[in-house]
Amino acid sequence: MTHSIQARTMKPGAHERPRWDGVTWQDSYGVGHGGIDADHRRLFELFNAFVDAVNENRGDAEIEGVLVELLAYCDTHFDREERLMREYGYPDYAAHKAMHDSFVRQLHDVNNALDAGGEQGAFVLGFLGKWLSGHILGVDMKLGAWLGGRGAGAA
Ligand SMILES: [Fe+2]
Ligand SMILES: [Fe+2]
Repeated sequence: MTHSIQARTMKPGAHERPRWDGVTWQDSYGVGHGGIDADHRRLFELFNAFVDAVNENRGDAEIEGVLVELLAYCDTHFDREERLMREYGYPDYAAHKAMHDSFVRQLHDVNNALDAGGEQGAFVLGFLGKWLSGHILGVDMKLGAWLGGRGAGAA
């Protein structure tokens, strides 16, 4: 997979360059499963590192490196949740997995959105941050409670 971020969109005039918002971890995001919660914290860190790299107009290679790390950790994390769902026969497995797959596709599209210009990039980065929080507070919370009810809260 390649991630090419065009120099023209990453280096517009400083006065017109939008700043993108990161995400803030809150204790209420804990779903009650140690492994999942640790992953979520790490995803927040990586997402914020990506937003920082873009906001600070770092070099293309650095921005690309952070995005690749974020994508890789999403894979790791989604695999963990999906493995747990299969292991414990989670009834909403298919729908939950479809959300993960859709998010990964959108993450891959971030580069294209950034290439298309600041406003679209801001929209997509904003969407991704909200998706992370929304997904955790919604379906991951349900999964965590379900796993907890089966004594699978630790790892
Ligand atoms: Fe998750
Ligand atoms: Fe999930």
